[in-house]
Amino acid sequence: MIELKGITKKYGDRTVLNSISFRVEKGEVLGFLGPNGAGKTTTMRIITGYLSPTMGEVMVEGYDIKKEPVRVRSIIGYLPELAPAYPEMTVLGYLKFMAGIKGLSGRYSKDAIDRVIQRISLDKVKDRIIGNLSRGYRQRVGIAQALLSNPSILILDEPTVGLDPEQIIEIRNLIRELGSDHTIILSTHVLPEVTVTCNRVLVINDGKLLAGGDYNMLSDDIYRERTYRLVTTRLDDGVVRLIESIDGIKAVERHDDGFTITIDTGFKNPEVITDAVFKAGYSVAEFSSKRVSLEDVYIKLLSHDRGGIQ
Ligand SMILES: Nc1ncnc2c1ncn2[C@@H]1O[C@H](COP(=O)(O)OP(=O)(O)OP(=O)(O)O)[C@@H](O)[C@H]1O
Ligand SMILES: [Mg+2]
Repeated sequence: MIELKGITKKYGDRTVLNSISFRVEKGEVLGFLGPNGAGKTTTMRIITGYLSPTMGEVMVEGYDIKKEPVRVRSIIGYLPELAPAYPEMTVLGYLKFMAGIKGLSGRYSKDAIDRVIQRISLDKVKDRIIGNLSRGYRQRVGIAQALLSNPSILILDEPTVGLDPEQIIEIRNLIRELGSDHTIILSTHVLPEVTVTCNRVLVINDGKLLAGGDYNMLSDDIYRERTYRLVTTRLDDGVVRLIESIDGIKAVERHDDGFTITIDTGFKNPEVITDAVFKAGYSVAEFSSKRVSLEDVYIKLLSHDRGGIQ
């Protein structure tokens, strides 16, 4: 479990993080979103102990990072934004070097390296020079070094940046797989990635936390309504009138191929709609929730924060 309480970071009189508080529970995969300069990397560097906050407290698995930085670092595996490049080293040489930095030696180092090579499927490339590897493989090496101390938590700063679509899918699958036995915080600008890999998101802008929650919560918070698509075998205005008469329905629109129904997020059982339609003698060919994309939610959140047009 990771807990941040009132984390503030100032550089001179510039506040880059403004009293950030959040918790990440064991086993969660949290997506950390925000525009360039929002404070994602700064927050991650504070959680990993590479940077001290000006104010506030970070607890990792019950340990205070200020009091027990060495212990906390051994619990966390970190893939920095710009993974340190040692292009002249072989994969194995680099992993040995990193294991040494993490205080592993002898058999412990060898076992840890064997384990991460297995887990990240690096066997094929372990004797190759890092500088000659594809970006996707270099990123894998970065993730492998993060796993050397067998951490329960992984902090991945933009793990898929600069990768081609195939490599993105590969790394994404790897993250999903790692999510089964690690708590993960990952930052990214690729929003579809968040929808497939994360169970919760945090949005940060200008050093402030704007919103957090699972995807549905976020979109409910922002939109305060949901839309459904309904297709009945007869598309007539009788259906419109029928649905409009149900409590909690905000709007019903008829199109050539079906209806769009807008309901309040407080409306908990949309089956009421299909029940009413059935009872009136229509049959239902389709009834589905129209999901707003995470992009829409994200842009709307930022524009609210900047006081822009909603
Ligand atoms: N050493 C420093 N001195 C002064 N300002 C800094 C320093 N490091 C970071 N900043 C500022 O802190 C703010 C947050 O930066 P940070 O790197 O955390 O953003 P980010 O959300 O990771 O952005 P990106 O998406 O571009 O990676 C930025 O305005 C940046 O210029
Ligand atoms: Mg960053």
